[in-house]
Amino acid sequence: MSKYITAGLIGYGTVGKGVVKILENNQKIVVRKVGKPIKIKSISDLNPIDKPELYVKNFKDIIKDPEIDLIIELVGGYEPARTIIIESLKSGKNVVTANKAVLAKYWDQIFITAQDYKKSIYYEASVGGVIPVVQGLNEGLAAEEIFEIKGILNGTTNFILSKMTKEGLAYEEALKSAQMAGFAESNPSFDVDGIDTANKLAILASLAWGSWIKVKNIAVKGIADLNIKDVLLTKRMGTIKLIGSAIKTKNGIDLSVCPCLIDKSSAFSTVENEYNAVFIKGKDSGDVLFYGKGAGQGPAASAVVSDIINLSKFIVTNTAGIVTDVIYDRKKKIKILPSGQSKSAYYLRFTVVDKPGVLSKISGILGANKVSIASLSQPNIKQGDYADVIIITHETSLSHLETALRQINALKSIVKSKPVKIKIEK
Ligand code: HSE
Repeated sequence: MSKYITAGLIGYGTVGKGVVKILENNQKIVVRKVGKPIKIKSISDLNPIDKPELYVKNFKDIIKDPEIDLIIELVGGYEPARTIIIESLKSGKNVVTANKAVLAKYWDQIFITAQDYKKSIYYEASVGGVIPVVQGLNEGLAAEEIFEIKGILNGTTNFILSKMTKEGLAYEEALKSAQMAGFAESNPSFDVDGIDTANKLAILASLAWGSWIKVKNIAVKGIADLNIKDVLLTKRMGTIKLIGSAIKTKNGIDLSVCPCLIDKSSAFSTVENEYNAVFIKGKDSGDVLFYGKGAGQGPAASAVVSDIINLSKFIVTNTAGIVTDVIYDRKKKIKILPSGQSKSAYYLRFTVVDKPGVLSKISGILGANKVSIASLSQPNIKQGDYADVIIITHETSLSHLETALRQINALKSIVKSKPVKIKIEK
């Protein structure tokens, strides 16, 4: 039997370098937990690396290497990441990945292959950075019927929203500040358009309900068109956060990613900067809250190494992949709630001509569409002939509200710009 667990690393970017560093520095912890050291035998990357003795140009040579027990996939994106994962499983290797995009898109293919080839795939770092939420859901809450998952799942957008809220920065300035702090990608679309949050929500929901919940079933709205005016106008009511939410209702799972107004008393309102938080409600567990850094080299690499250690314990005893660690039943169909049937209260802002009769037109259209008003105000901010009208609704179905907003937006003689709507989190 080998003296080491032998790993091959594919992708030597920020997280890959962090993984190598933690493994080098923490071998004592590794040996205490696994019983033997974990050695990275080979590293593949598009470019030559600072450890030439480990460098292998073609990742296929790592996958084929019979000495290697597990593959660490950290290239990101869809391809060649999908091929690396699938071919590794087929070649009898166990896999650790941090790649939420590939997991969310190819959940069925990846877990069917893992089941068919009796190999394991670990992916703690794909959701919530260092937060052990995959382990939490899969192991800590293994006995639970899950009712609800809600999370701040993207560090970059949370950093941007924190800057807007605390420093009054407009979105573009806050984005620059996130880029300077090293959080947002140079193409920040995945983060700010909510796609990254949707990928992570799809992973948690698929895990919780034992079927593949697809990103296309999630109503996704990001933060790129969030106006600083609304951040400031809602400050006395709470804080705006990008929330991924999956709730089991009697008509299906209600899935959404959108900026939400969070009450000051909610634990989410204290989650700042690159921190993430995940709230899970189980039938017997009640409420469970996870919190920690969701982005950055250290947190992501720590989660990857945690997977490497946990997986290695099973490799040592030759039991990795024998018992399926992700329950994925390809025949199970999960009912998804059509997004229009989703119910919530909303903050609405209308920029309209400031003259008699305008309010009654707006409230009349809302009323005709069964949208009930909880409060109404007109902040005293002069904008020529226009004024902002803020309406807080009672709980309403999204389709009724959207119809009303379309009708109001069509009143071109009184409405200056598209009405703003922000969901209010319960
Ligand atoms: N881009 C992600 C975030 C980090 O900002 O949270 C990795 O998941």
